[in-house]
Amino acid sequence: MINGAINDLAKARQELASAQSLEQLEQIRVSYLGRKGLLTEKLSSIKDLPPEDRRAAGQELNRIKRELEGLLESRQAELGKDAEEKDRQQKIDVTLPGFGTERGSRHPVSIILEEIVDIFEGMGFSVEEGPDAETDYYNFTALNFPKDHPARDMQATFYLESGLVLRTHTSPVQIRAMTKLKPPLRVICPGRVYRCDADVSHSPMFHQVEGFQVDRHINFAHLKGVLMQFLKEFFGGDIKIRFRPSFFPFTEPSAEVDIGCLLCGGKGCSACKQSGWMEILGSGMIHPNVLKNVGYDPEQWSGFAFGIGVDRLAMLRYKIDHIRLFYENDLRFLKQFY
Ligand code: DAH
Repeated sequence: MINGAINDLAKARQELASAQSLEQLEQIRVSYLGRKGLLTEKLSSIKDLPPEDRRAAGQELNRIKRELEGLLESRQAELGKDAEEKDRQQKIDVTLPGFGTERGSRHPVSIILEEIVDIFEGMGFSVEEGPDAETDYYNFTALNFPKDHPARDMQATFYLESGLVLRTHTSPVQIRAMTKLKPPLRVICPGRVYRCDADVSHSPMFHQVEGFQVDRHINFAHLKGVLMQFLKEFFGGDIKIRFRPSFFPFTEPSAEVDIGCLLCGGKGCSACKQSGWMEILGSGMIHPNVLKNVGYDPEQWSGFAFGIGVDRLAMLRYKIDHIRLFYENDLRFLKQFY
């Protein structure tokens, strides 16, 4: 019996040394010293020994029991300390300074784009969108561009290998919207457009908002009324505006609208190419051929259309003298807008 108890002690020593938690220690304690533990059982079977052996066996078993209890206690202290340390490390030190959070800001062109859309929505226009990679048909043919029109020139248009083009204006969305919907119509089409062009006021990618209205008896006065209302709302009361006769294949008659340069007050600067005026949009009465191309009878329906240069308006609003600043993603620049 004593030999068995010594073996138990050796085994218990190993188990205690490899225990990883207070829970494991408790299991070990129960299996040796609990009510039905190995040592407890051995102690209670002392009474079955011959009387002359009982004293020595009792002394030895109690010595083993005390040693085991001592070992248990010191392991408990060790593991208890570890648990405390872990706990301490997990606690949050509320006196530490927090992590800084960067505040994002909206892109100036997005701000202006949304503002334009808001104003036209207020006048009853709804929003339609089209793809950036467009077919020649929607970008040119349906808009009454003759086959040899210079706007189809490789120098202005990005041709894709697939045979599509990156749309050079938002006007193709006019065709898509008119084909999809029935007149009377009042629609705007905001989006990105692409041209092989770059200087202080041109970037290879820029933004336009197309707009058009088709109804019975629409005339140039409606066009002028809507655009004046828009420009007044956008710039406030005191700006100079001029309608200048122009040409677009998809409108007849056509006009461009210039605004007195807000950067130099009309004196002439690099942004307005020393003219004192900045072109901000093209417009006109929708050409009868365009109406025919979408299946509308030009004898019954007429309409006006316009295309606004969003980046130009953003430059004027924020007095920015180079369009490149919008697309360089310099945070020092972008952080100024909210
Ligand atoms: N699509 C023209 C451009 O990109 C702008 C334009 C002019 C749009 C006249 C129109 C319009 O809808 O009627 O320069």
